[in-house]
Amino acid sequence: MIETQAHTTLSDLLAGKLSKKELKLLPKGWQILGDIIIVSIPPRLEIRKCVIGEALLRFYPRCKAVLMIKRISGPYREPDVEVIAGSGTETTHKENGCRFKLDASKIMFSPGNLDERKRMSKLGKDEVIVDMFAGIGYFSIPMAVHSRPERIIAIEVNPLAYRYLCENVKLNKVEDIISPIHGDCAIKTPVGIADRAIMGNFEASHYLAHGINALKSGGILHYHETTPEKLVFSRPIKRITSAANELGRALKVQRCRKVKKYSPGVWHVVVDAQVF
Ligand SMILES: C[S@@+](CC[C@H](N)C(=O)[O-])C[C@H]1O[C@@H](n2cnc3c(N)ncnc32)[C@H](O)[C@@H]1O
Repeated sequence: MIETQAHTTLSDLLAGKLSKKELKLLPKGWQILGDIIIVSIPPRLEIRKCVIGEALLRFYPRCKAVLMIKRISGPYREPDVEVIAGSGTETTHKENGCRFKLDASKIMFSPGNLDERKRMSKLGKDEVIVDMFAGIGYFSIPMAVHSRPERIIAIEVNPLAYRYLCENVKLNKVEDIISPIHGDCAIKTPVGIADRAIMGNFEASHYLAHGINALKSGGILHYHETTPEKLVFSRPIKRITSAANELGRALKVQRCRKVKKYSPGVWHVVVDAQVF
């Protein structure tokens, strides 16, 4: 194995193996999730994916595999990936004092949502929370570890994500706080008990009535969606306001935030609103 020097770049490692043109196309960044590297490779370089993967493994000797990511799609937000070097796709990622176990080939973990996960970790002390799209515990785990709510009801429909959610609850020793529930939040969301409801899914608009109904008077809704640039933040505010009005509830927007750029001209946004 070649030892990498601090000043060595991926391009240095591949000089002689790729043409000058190919070197220019190399990715400038990648995600490290636990001991797995996740990289997106431009289509014109895909025929070189294995040599790039091997170089990345040499770059990070502690990592065990490199996954090439093509897209994230479907209602479960599943990644479409291919192992291009090394082996093994299950890992435990450490972030903000929390541990997240997941299979990186089947479960997404967005680096762009880091600030939002940190923000959530500071909220909810002594409250009852409903996390309607809990995944592997992206928001529930940091909240439970750092803010110690009274209870978090964490609902997840994907059986694999639910399995990791249950494992992560144990790994982080928050069994006394988080109650994982397997199923569709349209059916499983409780009514009238929550101080806070988290709707961390891009299809959340279809479930707004359930999120609002979960809240006690004065409870807070964290509503996520992907919004075209021109409609930031008017569309999400309109959607939550009309959903609340239809249920005869009043609503006060507290805060609007861009979480990350989702695609060209489209933002992932979150709106916090108090519902009465
Ligand atoms: C992937 S997470 C969103 C990402 C997360 N906010 C983060 O910080 O990375 C969304 C989760 O909602 C789940 N989900 C989708 N529809 C659902 C439903 N109707 N009920 C419960 N969970 C659902 C998906 O399976 C997925 O695990």
